[in-house]
Amino acid sequence: MQALTLQLLQQVQANAITIGDVDNLRNLLRHHEHLYYVLNTPTITDYEYDQLYKALELLEQAHPTSITPDSPTQRVASGITKEFATASHLVPMLSLENSYNANDLIEWDRKCKQLSGMAQLEYCVEPKYDGASISLIYENDVLVRATTRGNGVQGDDITINAKQIKSIPLHAKFSTYGLQQAEIRGEVIMTKKNFEDYNLSLQAQGLAQVANPRNTASGSLRIKDPKEVAKRKLDAYLYNLGYKSPDQNSFPNEHNETIGALSQLGFLTSAYSKEVCCFAGIHAVINYIHHYETTRDSLPYEIDGMVVKVNNLLLQDALGMTSHHPRWAIAYKFKARQATTTLLAVEYQVGRTGAVTPVAKLAPVAVGGVIVSSISIHNQEYIQEKDLKIGDTVIIERAGDVIPQIVCSVPSARTGKELDIVFPTHCPICGSPLYKEDNEAVWRCINDKCPALVVGNIIHYVSKDAMDIKSFGEQNVIKFNEQGWLNAITDIYNLPYNLIATLDGYGAKSVEKLQEGIEKSKTQPLHRIIYGLGIRFVGEGTAKILAQKVGHLLELKHYTLEQLQALDDIGPKVASSIVHYFAQEHHIAMLQQLQALGVQLHNTMKATVGTGGLVGSTFLFTGTLTQLKRTQAEAMVEAKGGKLLSGVSSKLNYLVVGDDAGSKLDKAKKLNTVHILSEAEFIDLIKSLE
Ligand code: IVH
Repeated sequence: MQALTLQLLQQVQANAITIGDVDNLRNLLRHHEHLYYVLNTPTITDYEYDQLYKALELLEQAHPTSITPDSPTQRVASGITKEFATASHLVPMLSLENSYNANDLIEWDRKCKQLSGMAQLEYCVEPKYDGASISLIYENDVLVRATTRGNGVQGDDITINAKQIKSIPLHAKFSTYGLQQAEIRGEVIMTKKNFEDYNLSLQAQGLAQVANPRNTASGSLRIKDPKEVAKRKLDAYLYNLGYKSPDQNSFPNEHNETIGALSQLGFLTSAYSKEVCCFAGIHAVINYIHHYETTRDSLPYEIDGMVVKVNNLLLQDALGMTSHHPRWAIAYKFKARQATTTLLAVEYQVGRTGAVTPVAKLAPVAVGGVIVSSISIHNQEYIQEKDLKIGDTVIIERAGDVIPQIVCSVPSARTGKELDIVFPTHCPICGSPLYKEDNEAVWRCINDKCPALVVGNIIHYVSKDAMDIKSFGEQNVIKFNEQGWLNAITDIYNLPYNLIATLDGYGAKSVEKLQEGIEKSKTQPLHRIIYGLGIRFVGEGTAKILAQKVGHLLELKHYTLEQLQALDDIGPKVASSIVHYFAQEHHIAMLQQLQALGVQLHNTMKATVGTGGLVGSTFLFTGTLTQLKRTQAEAMVEAKGGKLLSGVSSKLNYLVVGDDAGSKLDKAKKLNTVHILSEAEFIDLIKSLE
């Protein structure tokens, strides 16, 4: 290959590449991808690789019919995935049984021996990668489909995203084993290093950081923009052959050799050879696992345990599976990593809902390779339960190896100098008194103007699940607030871009991007705005239910407690929070201001015919109107896209009631789904939509 590399590089430099070289060029690029992304030992420079890659691209442009789906150029994707298709697994993707100690493993070994009739079994032990499982199907040596685990029977077809993972080969010579089709399984992970780099880049862009490599890997697989997936530098470790066709073939019939074969075929696999990972009998397995656990932190990726597998594949078949897991494999979960340190002080953070969270400041200590110096201690009750005092020795652990928490204090280590943790009575940010509801554990600041609430709300409004204003993020909100430019949601649409451009770290490009994101957010669907308002207890689901009901956001002002509770999944707590929100004049004023700034408060999803704030809503007038003529009022409804009905039915949304209203009003009241408006409220509604 080295000779071919030199030869083709010389040809490229001399402009002497022809279509006859296309196969060689592709194989060579695959070879170098493998050296770089799988074996981590590149033999050419990035520049040389790029030259070869560009030469292939040019050849393919000149001869488009020569392009093959497994060509190294075919990873590049443009466009956005609308929706991932559902794909059925060839064989169900099961989970694993868990074990936590040597006795669990001894018991599992006993059952395996009993079921297989063997006196002793040979086991393979490999890392339990902490990521997201993936299935890859190769047909005639070409990667044709990649699927997430989903519910085990069906998953999402994420082929386009899997192609962005450079350690997954697009081409693998299963045909050398006589296989036409092979389905292999593995785990997509993000290495600790790439995770850190990714978080640094998010931080630099002023975006919220991601919590851990596992969630980032699994979230990445379902991102709609393949280019973003490529940026995240994921890897895939393959650990099983799920299905092969034809079944009679020369593929190995032992697990460790399967891993060896997959490695030979170009996949990233557990890097251990037969001697290291295969053991006769369970006691050798247990010894190895205990030893391996101590080296865990030096691995380049997170693992949450080890997986023990019966090595012989025929015995695996004989042992079979339950509906949940194969009987021939078991996961051994490592204990959460613990450390002992001192609780130095408690600080209090105020969230967007006003909730005051105590945070324990600790003498920095390493747990599982990460330095921990502060941990949330949730609330006053939690502090009492754990019997925490300032100055205490505490044992901490990273549960699920991600979020650190305090396991307990060590009262026997006390000297008598420890101090009680005294919960504040006033907001540490704005100084106003804190409140606590009887049935709640949390103390809250209820001052709407508290900077912590204001900033927290804006962060929520711009966040991904709400208005999804790309390139805004927590850091920007904080910075612009500090500058005095951002004190309310409405300020987002009035930012002084010329001044932002003068701040350190803001180039013309990033300001342009920010502005673009903000403009785009003006036409977000209604449910995102409702969610973004941060109304207490209104999550994404409730926001969607509310959005479906109205043609314009301000219609929610007219919903009563009963009407809200009549909606799916809305209970008294949520309903009263919604009523409370819309009863506050400054909230209505803020929404009207947002509308004036160009933010779409109409329900564009609901629009079928016409335009205007009442599209999708139905009206009926009854009784005598005093300020408007009936025809005038009806024309107002139609001008705003609303529809007039002739009678009260479940299809009716609004009944506008004048003087001396009769049976229609009674009927509407009974139905309990109709909003009853006075004439004045009706005029108000129309005005709010102007
Ligand atoms: S074998 C038929 N081997 O752990 C079961 N799984 O908790 C095949 N996992 O869903 C699984 N590392 O996503 C296997 N070396 C390994 C693994 C592994 C991580 C994941 C896998 C599975 C989950 C169960």
